[in-house]
Amino acid sequence: MQTVKELLLKTEAFFKDLGLPRPRREAELLVGHVLGLERVQVYLEFDRPLQDDEVAGIRALVRRRANREPLVWLLGEVGFYSIDALLVHKDVLVPRPDSERLVDAALDWIPADAAPFVADVGAGTGAIGLALAQERPGLRLYAIDSSDAALANTKANVARLGFGDRVAVLKGDLLDPVPPNRPIDIVVSNPPYIRSADIADLEPEVSKWEPRLALDGGPDGLDVYRRLVPAAAARARQAVLVEIGFDQGDPVRRLFEQAGLVGVEVLPDLAGRDRVVRGRVVGG
Ligand SMILES: C[S@@+](CC[C@H](N)C(=O)[O-])C[C@H]1O[C@@H](n2cnc3c(N)ncnc32)[C@H](O)[C@@H]1O
Repeated sequence: MQTVKELLLKTEAFFKDLGLPRPRREAELLVGHVLGLERVQVYLEFDRPLQDDEVAGIRALVRRRANREPLVWLLGEVGFYSIDALLVHKDVLVPRPDSERLVDAALDWIPADAAPFVADVGAGTGAIGLALAQERPGLRLYAIDSSDAALANTKANVARLGFGDRVAVLKGDLLDPVPPNRPIDIVVSNPPYIRSADIADLEPEVSKWEPRLALDGGPDGLDVYRRLVPAAAARARQAVLVEIGFDQGDPVRRLFEQAGLVGVEVLPDLAGRDRVVRGRVVGG
């Protein structure tokens, strides 16, 4: 019978040969996940002999990871902002730490006791909108996506967080699913913004697995902003905030200004690259 330690070392060596960047950490996380153990507990159980079904479960995940499926899909959850364990389903974009900048930028404009109606366009797992809802108890959210896989994932997170009474999960294009008589104060969005031609050059976890609908921003990466920014500026009563790629600050700022938004700012992420554009509605 193999012990935890033996299988862990084998998995680490296999991941190293494949050139995965953090072979030890990934091995610990996958082994721990199947055994229901935290990473530190894996070490406390080093000499435990593994049952056949445990070995089979670990091998199945190791094979998927060897095929460069995103690690987070295999683990099923990730921490995002103040949400400890956000569920992340296969076929839904894995939330990135960079997107926490958009959450910060929005919270900065939402007082702690405010009760705004916020629309998160392209909600994916629901990460951005749900992090805002967690931080602002009065906030009501429309979580919108055009992908059924994303909507199922958002709904699972809404249920897990117990936010069912203040989140509407809606299917459709951009803001269309929010009925015209329903208020929207703030629009937030991390839309697809990668240039179509650049997608093939990204790491395999992204180019081979993550949904094209979540990535592809058209020939110059700006297709969705061109439709979303004017629509959001026309509907929102207070503000519009979007995540951008590092080289999209100037063109997206222009789209905000052309749409009549004021006080437009391009904000950097922690690495100093442009990451968020935000602007206010006149009088909002
Ligand atoms: C970059 S992902 C962002 C997901 C999530 N907000 C996050 O930050 O982790 C973009 C999301 O927008 C959705 N999407 C793409 N085009 C859309 C459209 N026209 N209307 C609504 N959602 C769209 C995709 O399905 C995907 O879930």
